[in-house]
Amino acid sequence: MAKVTIQQLKEMKQKGEQITMVTAYDYSQAVLVEKSGIEIILVGDSLSMTMLGHPGTVNLTTDEMIHHIKPVVKGAPTPMIVGDMVFGSYNEGPAQAVRSANRLMKEGGCDVIKLEGHCPEVVDALVKGGIPVQGHIGLTPQTASMLGGFKVQGKSLDAAQKIVDEAKSLEDAGAFSLVLECVPEELGRAVSKAVSIPVIGIGAGRYCDGQVLVFHDMLGLFDKFLPKFVKQYAQVGQEIVRALEEYKNEVKIGAFPGEQHIFGGLSAEDLKDIK
Ligand code: KIV
Repeated sequence: MAKVTIQQLKEMKQKGEQITMVTAYDYSQAVLVEKSGIEIILVGDSLSMTMLGHPGTVNLTTDEMIHHIKPVVKGAPTPMIVGDMVFGSYNEGPAQAVRSANRLMKEGGCDVIKLEGHCPEVVDALVKGGIPVQGHIGLTPQTASMLGGFKVQGKSLDAAQKIVDEAKSLEDAGAFSLVLECVPEELGRAVSKAVSIPVIGIGAGRYCDGQVLVFHDMLGLFDKFLPKFVKQYAQVGQEIVRALEEYKNEVKIGAFPGEQHIFGGLSAEDLKDIK
């Protein structure tokens, strides 16, 4: 299969074909996503919680992000791979942003980068530097405390207008797509109509140009909290615990390894003189 391109995503929006995106953070997850045919993989900074056990996204470093992008690139040649810019890697301004994004692309090997917040001057500098940018507006987890916590954004008319304006100005700055997180469904529809670039929703209702979910949330691999907007398509975590318990019990009672798991070739008699 050929690599998913920005042009292809744009055409999907034009045709009204929904775009699918999911996070992945290592080689084996990427191989599974590749098999599913999902168009975009986000190596999201949510890996800070799901893979590294941090309480939030702020602790994650660019080195750690690169470490996780590399195996995803190896495991999934077809989907577009988005590398997430970590907190503190672009808030000093355009020059720092270009340096950090260059590292994600050159050292990690991702195809494009994503960054949170309304920072058109940074997006403009990145795009002028040849770096494709996906914006992320609405609820932006890296700065959630400044937005009043993990809450639905854009609930008043003024706040909704602000989000539409941000979307337009990020498009004008050259972003090729946007992630829109945790807004009322009708605002998701309005933002998607207001811009010509694909808007990928997460908790933004049914009328965006596509949807994104966190791998661990949708598969039941992370049980610290589950936002209302997540659908769990499987309970993989429970199945893993069941298998681990069965393995433990079988070892304890001598049922594993069985006849079919052992190597013959020598008898006890052959080895009787070995001390
Ligand atoms: O890091 C992440 O997983 C994200 C998604 C919530 C879109 O940014």
